[in-house]
Amino acid sequence: MAPYDNEHLLADSNARAALAEIVDVCRSFAVSIPETEPAQARALKEVIERTGSLVQTGRLRLCDTLPKDEPVIRLYKAQTGVGRLKLQLFPLQNGDSHPPHAHYNLVSCQIVLQGEARIREYSLLSRSAANELEIRAEPEQRLQPGDGVYTLLERNNIHWQEGLCEDTVLLNINWQGYFDADPMLAHGAINGRRYIDWDRARAGSEPGCLIVPKVNGA
Ligand SMILES: [Fe+2]
Repeated sequence: MAPYDNEHLLADSNARAALAEIVDVCRSFAVSIPETEPAQARALKEVIERTGSLVQTGRLRLCDTLPKDEPVIRLYKAQTGVGRLKLQLFPLQNGDSHPPHAHYNLVSCQIVLQGEARIREYSLLSRSAANELEIRAEPEQRLQPGDGVYTLLERNNIHWQEGLCEDTVLLNINWQGYFDADPMLAHGAINGRRYIDWDRARAGSEPGCLIVPKVNGA
């Protein structure tokens, strides 16, 4: 399968060139991921800023006829170095959300291409053998076109994204399989997205912290 997909959803040749430019930046990150989380954060902020400038200058634009009923639309997927790089669109109507979920062996960033989004994030403090996570709330963010957030193995590992107006679209970029060992002795952890059972959340050991079960395979 070709690495690029659904390129017809980009507005024009300028937008397709802008996407290729982002992919190059992401491939560079994939083969030189820094070891520490602060360094990873700095590198992902650069990815967000480069992408954001392409959005704000109008080069990275989508067509007017994006499907409204597909929560995830693939733009690019390829093995890169030891892991896999993926770029996707997350179309969100007003009030739509990607429910709260955790990640394992994955870092990512989300950049608003159009519309407005609310992002809620939690950092991972510990995992338990009972398939529960202790997490700490991070400040909620509202993002405009060109703004973005990032997810690391611990910082912001749990997140959810909500559209605040019609035809909001996020660009989701993730790198999966680049990390040898889980930082929290994650017995039974599975690669990729795992949903949080928010109804069974309870207070954690400190203010602002929660203990939440995660649900595999949702
Ligand atoms: Fe996610």
